[in-house]
Amino acid sequence: MLDKKNIFIVGGLGLLGRAFSKSVIENGAELVIGDIETKENIQRFNNLKKELNSNKIQFIPCDISSESSVKNAFKEIFELYQHIDAVVNTSYPRNENFGNDFLDVDINDFNENINLHLGGYFLTSQVAIKYFLNQGIGNLINIASIYGVIAPKFEIYKSTELTTPVEYSAIKSGIIHLNKYFSKYLKGKNIRVNCISPGGIINNHSEIFKENYRAYTLNKGMLDSSDLTGTLIYLLSDMSKYINGQNIIIDDGFTL
Ligand SMILES: NC(=O)c1ccc[n+]([C@@H]2O[C@H](COP(=O)([O-])OP(=O)(O)OC[C@H]3O[C@@H](n4cnc5c(N)ncnc54)[C@H](O)[C@@H]3O)[C@@H](O)[C@H]2O)c1
Repeated sequence: MLDKKNIFIVGGLGLLGRAFSKSVIENGAELVIGDIETKENIQRFNNLKKELNSNKIQFIPCDISSESSVKNAFKEIFELYQHIDAVVNTSYPRNENFGNDFLDVDINDFNENINLHLGGYFLTSQVAIKYFLNQGIGNLINIASIYGVIAPKFEIYKSTELTTPVEYSAIKSGIIHLNKYFSKYLKGKNIRVNCISPGGIINNHSEIFKENYRAYTLNKGMLDSSDLTGTLIYLLSDMSKYINGQNIIIDDGFTL
């Protein structure tokens, strides 16, 4: 479905990113993964490359909180391919105090997390769009969240240490709205910009949390990262050519 397409996935070594990377390779694309260059990420990249047994996958360091890092990453990709069909941002920057209860969030942490995550998505989108404008076509997909759409259901966190962080709601609703701004700004430019907003993805959550969560869904409950890939591939493919400025929610009905 993605034959001859070059795709850049930022945050491609994370939980969602690895599932996205796999599905993009399985659908025939050339993939560049951008992520922060840590020992753990290099190990993850080597494992992924081995598992996929493909020479169509490369790693380029890309830290979305650094303007020079993002610009260098794009420069490197364009030197490599001279063209990029799509950029997916599924990175998840946050500082060590991210996730505190609303009343305990320090304003400096709030600002820093907005900076890292919303600022980073803005920066990556802006740089990608400049390249897309130069080449006359492009496809940008930002990963948002159901918590950018609805208010938290605080009751599902009872008896757990989790919450919906207040900064996360601000960040993800900001990303969803920025996407509408970008797509309208780009009228007539052959560039589309969409969001995917997943619900909760299973990742070592406690049974109690999964049960609390499941009560609000229609069939499965929390999803697996592989449950998101069909929508990603569709948005990356020409089948979705006229889907633009949208936020596609994948949450087994949690937001209803
Ligand atoms: N996991 C979920 O339940 C869930 C649900 C809804 C939305 N999302 C969203 O999906 C995206 C991915 O989430 P995830 O669960 O895969 O997160 P994750 O923490 O597993 O992976 C995030 C990836 O981003 C990378 N990263 C962190 N800081 C970065 C930076 N400054 N620059 C570039 N890369 C950076 C990490 O190295 C990692 O590879 C996030 O935007 C998240 O908000 C996740």
